Amino acid sequence: MNMRLQATDISKNFGGVQALKHVNVDIVGGEVHCLAGENGSGKSTIVKILSGVLTPNGGVITVDGTPYESLTARQAIGLGIAVIHQDLSLFGTMSVRDNICLPEHVHHHRSLINPQYAEDVSRKAMARIGADLDLDARVENLSMASKQQVAIARALALNAKVIFMDEPTTALTSTEVDSLLRTIGALKASGVSVIFISHKLDEVFSVADRITVFRSGEVIGTYQASQLDSRKLSALMTGHDVEFGVPENHIVADATPVLEMKHVKASKVSDVTLRVQAGEVVGMSGLLGSGRTETALTLFGLNALTGGSIAIDGQPAAIRNPRDAIANGIALVPEDRHREGLFLDRNLLQNSAASVLERISSRFGVVNVKKERQIGEDTLVNLQVNTRDLALLAQSLSGGNQQKVLLGKWVATAPKLLILDSPTVGVDVGSKSQIYEIIRQLSSRGIAILVISDEEEELLAVCNRIAIFVQGAVTTELSGEQLKLGFSAIYRNADRNGVGVVDVAAHPTNKEVA
Ligand SMILES: Nc1ncnc2c1ncn2[C@@H]1O[C@H](COP(=O)(O)OP(=O)(O)OP(=O)(O)O)[C@@H](O)[C@H]1O
Ligand SMILES: [Mg+2]
Repeated sequence: MNMRLQATDISKNFGGVQALKHVNVDIVGGEVHCLAGENGSGKSTIVKILSGVLTPNGGVITVDGTPYESLTARQAIGLGIAVIHQDLSLFGTMSVRDNICLPEHVHHHRSLINPQYAEDVSRKAMARIGADLDLDARVENLSMASKQQVAIARALALNAKVIFMDEPTTALTSTEVDSLLRTIGALKASGVSVIFISHKLDEVFSVADRITVFRSGEVIGTYQASQLDSRKLSALMTGHDVEFGVPENHIVADATPVLEMKHVKASKVSDVTLRVQAGEVVGMSGLLGSGRTETALTLFGLNALTGGSIAIDGQPAAIRNPRDAIANGIALVPEDRHREGLFLDRNLLQNSAASVLERISSRFGVVNVKKERQIGEDTLVNLQVNTRDLALLAQSLSGGNQQKVLLGKWVATAPKLLILDSPTVGVDVGSKSQIYEIIRQLSSRGIAILVISDEEEELLAVCNRIAIFVQGAVTTELSGEQLKLGFSAIYRNADRNGVGVVDVAAHPTNKEVA
């Protein structure tokens, strides 16, 4: 076999944590090799070791037959190993050409840029991935999919033979994901090996030739993708069978709805009519720009209402800011937990109690430490956060645990309406099923829940009803038997055609009910 890059018996410790234990992985030429494993299982650590960012505590790295104890980043680049970072690390104000060529010039210490040479290098690199971008365009004006092509072409200009992509799709829309997966196919066809990491198993199965499974810092095994399916892979990752479960019915019917929105208008929201009963979980599904997040922000007082009405428990609610929203019993767990949701430099206790600080502080604003500890411990036990150390800073927690703490923070406020925006992005499959169970438990307590998600199986695991958003409006709702048939096919078509309009009538169940 054509062995390009090999990790043999690699170990890595961070203080007391053994992040990698005698790990073996081999990458052959022109394969797409996925790394799978729960949050914190060591995937990013092996990527960093093989790309020269981290030094291992033991083991050997072999590149094209030559053994190394460790690599520096510069050495790795010279050996044809590249990493496409999640933020792409491009220079927005520079041209496509300069972005592609600059690292190549720097790496080879070329002080003069020969325009013709730069042109050739850029064109060749782009041709290899079937991209056809204007070389003079400023990168900041490009679409996400094109930016990704620039970042990949830049790696190719440096002669990359192995390209690492660590969760490249977490911030992408489904169209952008499709485009990236096609680019990966082109890379493979041109002989480049791609190491791809994603918690979305459908993405993994759509590109992987082989899959290496990590569990708690060890490699469980490397498999042909064709030998596995989602269920088997989940079991290998977690060590047990993973069930996402099905929605339960806790709906308090015939009561006044907790939330009733009528013809709501706001920025990027044109006409949303939606009601949620106590104990009901309603999904919000739609394409990028369909107004789901903006609708959630409107309910939380962060996007000004310009028309229509919002009633909570049958009473008109004036929600001008988050304080009003919280006073009305509304809680929002935002999409980007890193930026908006958690205080990353505070520990778990402080985070889980943060939203009830007011309640447990004296009127001079002094936190009652004993109460804080009690609430923190209660939420963490309730949410099965898997950590022994309550004093850990949030940023050192794995993604799944961060998300559970964030849920806990809001659950502590006992909201009437809980809005979850993309609750499991970057969360491993085992933690996902736990979060779904938490959502079902919350609905059983009579909380009305809105869930924004791009993942069909996620919506189908928790929702009693799904509202489909198109261009700022709710155009249709799916419930009961309709949910069992699945609905994502309509989107994929609309998305591919670039129309951005869902042809609802094309969906069989909607024809019947129409
Ligand atoms: N710089 C660091 N300092 C201390 N511990 C670290 C550091 N980087 C990683 N770890 C720990 O090493 C372990 C492996 O982390 P790693 O980031 O490789 O996991 P991962 O599989 O990429 O997880 P995820 O799916 O959440 O990205 C975890 O326990 C993590 O907390
Ligand atoms: Mg990682």
